[in-house]
Amino acid sequence: HPPLRVAVLGCGVVGTQVVRLLTTQASDLASRVGAPLELVGVAVRDADAERDPVVDRALLTTDAESLVERADVVVEVMGGLEPARGLLLRAIAAGASVVTANKALLAQDGPTLYAAADEAGVDIYFEAAVAGAIPIVRPVRESLAGDRVTRVLGIVNGTTNYVLDKMASEGLDLDQAVKEAQALGYAEADPTADVEGYDAAAKAAILASLAFHTRVSIDDVSREGITSLTADDVLWAQRTGHVLKLLAIAERGSVEDADGARVEGVQVRVHPALVPAGHPLASVRGAFNAVFVEAEAAGELMFYGRGAGGEPTASAVLGDVVSVARHRVLGGKGPVESRYAELPVLPATAA
Ligand code: NDP
Ligand code: HSE
Repeated sequence: HPPLRVAVLGCGVVGTQVVRLLTTQASDLASRVGAPLELVGVAVRDADAERDPVVDRALLTTDAESLVERADVVVEVMGGLEPARGLLLRAIAAGASVVTANKALLAQDGPTLYAAADEAGVDIYFEAAVAGAIPIVRPVRESLAGDRVTRVLGIVNGTTNYVLDKMASEGLDLDQAVKEAQALGYAEADPTADVEGYDAAAKAAILASLAFHTRVSIDDVSREGITSLTADDVLWAQRTGHVLKLLAIAERGSVEDADGARVEGVQVRVHPALVPAGHPLASVRGAFNAVFVEAEAAGELMFYGRGAGGEPTASAVLGDVVSVARHRVLGGKGPVESRYAELPVLPATAA
């Protein structure tokens, strides 16, 4: 099979590690895919900035628009709504399969991208958009598609978990701990997205959409971050045998409509919670994440691992690259979200 051309949009914390794996694992990836993966370009804002030497400077370009039109697989790890959205639509229209880690974009406008991919007959994969290295998107999107999920609950933001952990274990204040999380590559470009709960809300919206076969946007998620928590709150939690965690929860529920009838649907919320010290979520330290999924036939499932950082996230991105590349070589196609709308999305209030 001729080489598949891969374009990477973004060469920051995640993009650099994606380029590293594409470069250093090239022969293993070729044998797994059945064709070589040829990195044809890496789009950045500043082509002159200092980069990790693993990145071949000759591949850098600031012209992402033309790059996406000469690729079979486009990996978007630049973040933000635009130009990421426009570039992915352009790539899809040009017939490329796309892989993205961009939860903010998917939670805002995923259905537009899913519909475009469906119409073009190409894959859109996004394992890295939720919980870093943890395989959670595929299990919820595919493995549990024959079951009836009742609840998804967990820690899906590494930065806030790291911050709360450092506040509890080392007495750091919130700002100090956020700076550390930024230096370690866990935080979003604007860490407000982490500490105010927007990032967790985006991930909760994506997981809820997949788990309940419906369309949950970030605007449907009831959200409270960790900025109002003080060192005293964290210590008080410890003294009473608890750990403070930022939880994301999506579950089946019901509300009363104007006529007094019960309306069944899905409710999604993100907020800090007091977790008993003996609960498995209490032992999730640093930037690790953990997600519980409850389904009627499967029962309770738990997913745990590194939820943020360049290398863990690149692992998930590369898994998607292999999947979509295999489809191009062997035929087949991944799931399509655009056709589903089973459950109404209900307003949620923080518990
Ligand atoms: P960074 O800020 O480290 O990197 C962003 C990269 O994108 C930079 O190389 C930047 O170029 C490039 N870029 C940004 N805007 C443009 C533009 N308009 N045109 C061309 N290039 C552009 O982000 P991360 O690597 O941390 O995150 C990337 C994505 O991955 C985000 O969607 C994030 O939410 C997601 N993600 C991040 C995780 C993490 O742990 N960091 C984990 C899971 C997902 P330049 O270098 O020139 O500035
Ligand atoms: N900022 C995110 C986090 C990156 O801290 O979880 C992983 O999605």
